[in-house]
Amino acid sequence: MKPHVLVVGGSGMLKEVCLWLVDQGYNVSVIGRTKKRLDDVVNEASDSSSVFPISVDYRNEELFLKEIMEIQHKRGPITLAVSWIHSDARNTLHLLTEQISNLSNNPWRLFHVKGSSAHLSQGHILVPEHCLYRQIVLGFILSDSYSRWLTNKEIAAGIIKAIQWDQEESIVGTLEPWEKRP
Ligand SMILES: NC(=O)c1ccc[n+]([C@@H]2O[C@H](COP(=O)([O-])OP(=O)(O)OC[C@H]3O[C@@H](n4cnc5c(N)ncnc54)[C@H](OP(=O)(O)O)[C@@H]3O)[C@@H](O)[C@H]2O)c1
Repeated sequence: MKPHVLVVGGSGMLKEVCLWLVDQGYNVSVIGRTKKRLDDVVNEASDSSSVFPISVDYRNEELFLKEIMEIQHKRGPITLAVSWIHSDARNTLHLLTEQISNLSNNPWRLFHVKGSSAHLSQGHILVPEHCLYRQIVLGFILSDSYSRWLTNKEIAAGIIKAIQWDQEESIVGTLEPWEKRP
């Protein structure tokens, strides 16, 4: 069986990351709510049979954990997870890491994607045994005359690079000077 990866919030700006993971030979479970956005990931993948869309609201903790448990029973333990979780789901990432580590005796990697303001307001999260924590912070693009937020393409490219290089901490774009953000 192919190694199993999970992308939480993978049907939006992380879609290109999901497609790249399929190309790398993974079975990719993708979490989002909207069926159409999830279907787009399946339809655009080079091997649609390697994408497993899961429509669930990650703020519904009970249902979310049930899905995570089920996908691991079906496709094996998650060896790599990429998470883009909005701040209104405060406990979701913690529950997710506990659930994956509980089912696995092997190290697994978590790439935690954070928006710039979330990064400034929160510290590192506490992760359970076996979880190798990697943090990716989304910044902005600064040039001589203007600043702008990152495009989805830039965000996906930065995340792919962080996974390839297994960077413990990375920033896509820049966070400084913070007062020059768009
Ligand atoms: N610093 C920066 O430059 C920066 C930082 C952050 C964002 N951005 C930009 O802001 C834009 C909007 O951000 P966004 O978060 O809306 O991006 P998004 O990645 O387009 O959407 C969020 C992803 O999470 C899923 N999702 C959201 N809430 C969910 C829930 N409760 N349960 C399950 N899945 C859920 C969405 O699918 P469903 O909606 O179908 O559930 C989608 O897959 C992005 O396109 C990006 O370009 C820029």
